[in-house]
Amino acid sequence: MNPFKFYLVTDTHYFEPSLGCEGKALDDYMKNEMYCLAESSRIVHATFDEIIKDTEIDTVIIPGDLSKDGEKQSHVGFVKELNRLKDAGKKVYVITAGHDYNDNPRGYVGENYVPVEPTTFEELYGLYYDFGLSEALAVDKQTHSYVAQVAKDVRMIAFNCDSNRETKGSIDDRLLEWAKVQIDKAKADGCFVFCINHYPIIPSVPVFDLIGDAHIKDWRKVASFLADNGVNLALTGHMHIQSINEFYSESGNKFVDICTSVLVGSPGKYRKITIEDEATVTAESINVPEFDWDKGGRTTEEYFDDRAVWAAPNRIRRALSGDSFFKRFATKIFNTNTFAQLGRKLLIRVPKEIKDKKFCGFTGELARDIFKGDQPYTEGTPVYTVIARFLKRFRPILNIASKKLAKDGIKPDLTDMLLNTIGNNKGWSDNNATIKLK
Ligand SMILES: [Fe+2]
Ligand SMILES: [Fe+2]
Repeated sequence: MNPFKFYLVTDTHYFEPSLGCEGKALDDYMKNEMYCLAESSRIVHATFDEIIKDTEIDTVIIPGDLSKDGEKQSHVGFVKELNRLKDAGKKVYVITAGHDYNDNPRGYVGENYVPVEPTTFEELYGLYYDFGLSEALAVDKQTHSYVAQVAKDVRMIAFNCDSNRETKGSIDDRLLEWAKVQIDKAKADGCFVFCINHYPIIPSVPVFDLIGDAHIKDWRKVASFLADNGVNLALTGHMHIQSINEFYSESGNKFVDICTSVLVGSPGKYRKITIEDEATVTAESINVPEFDWDKGGRTTEEYFDDRAVWAAPNRIRRALSGDSFFKRFATKIFNTNTFAQLGRKLLIRVPKEIKDKKFCGFTGELARDIFKGDQPYTEGTPVYTVIARFLKRFRPILNIASKKLAKDGIKPDLTDMLLNTIGNNKGWSDNNATIKLK
């Protein structure tokens, strides 16, 4: 096969600004969000401008969460943006996901959340028909999953795992069997086959394995089924994280999942993907460009980073909010303590490089750095050292948690999972890598 190059953009979360995006209601909502809402349409516009400038690559693939929350007008605005790509000669393939239909989307006007026109799942078929479905070789009507010939000898299975609120994030047996028929046909036609899906198929970092909504349901089964049937590559989104992971089925077949970040906020990346041949894929990450917004003199990356570092501790404060003595005590410690102060309370030695760092601020930096991929806190770094000591101190609690989380009698090693989440020990980059598929 010839190398196939395309752009992979995901989680555009486009919000139509005329629905209202200013005032206290927006500020309250955004306190806990690592991505941007008022800015999203400008970010999409600027990114698509960059893609349009590239005359070499003519394909753009977007695996879901196209709108903020299924506002009809956000879809109308986003379709206009997709048409700009089309008018510039790009082939565009999208799938929709959970944030694209909703009974109660809202605008933000002054102090109030105001209801705006929603979108049903059924309406998405018509709204996005021109971006994949219209040229599909096969469509699964129930989920809007489809198959497209994206290059002369390359076929893409676009799974829609978010067609139903009750079963969101799942590719069930029926859909897998439908996919198998499509894979067999594609192989008989001499095509390389890969898939896109909104939810990651492999958990993006080890602790995400413990979070049901962080990956496709029964992910080992789905990854094994695809790998054993000759599909070795998935391109995904949803978790707003940069990650590349691999998994082997019991039969020894390899599966690779390239998960890409949200476009409209930290980490703010999109990718150029090259399927070099049947056994090799290259992923290159690109920062969201400068966009038309008063960012206070900061670059786009600095602007996104600052939002992540600010919003992540707010989420923890929200989780700790309440009137119980324990919650008030924990909030006070979280807000005020440095690592040195926490270390003294728990009898843990803290490396001098980080002893004056405030714990709450650090959680923001940690969230920012985990979602950017290539997590820097590997063995030997001060942060690794202190977190490993904290985990050792809390071992009895982790042991109880591990027993509760055991599946099929296998207890997860929580210490190992946490340490491999803060430091990338995989041997390849989450951002820029050439990966073997077999
Ligand atoms: Fe998303
Ligand atoms: Fe999502």
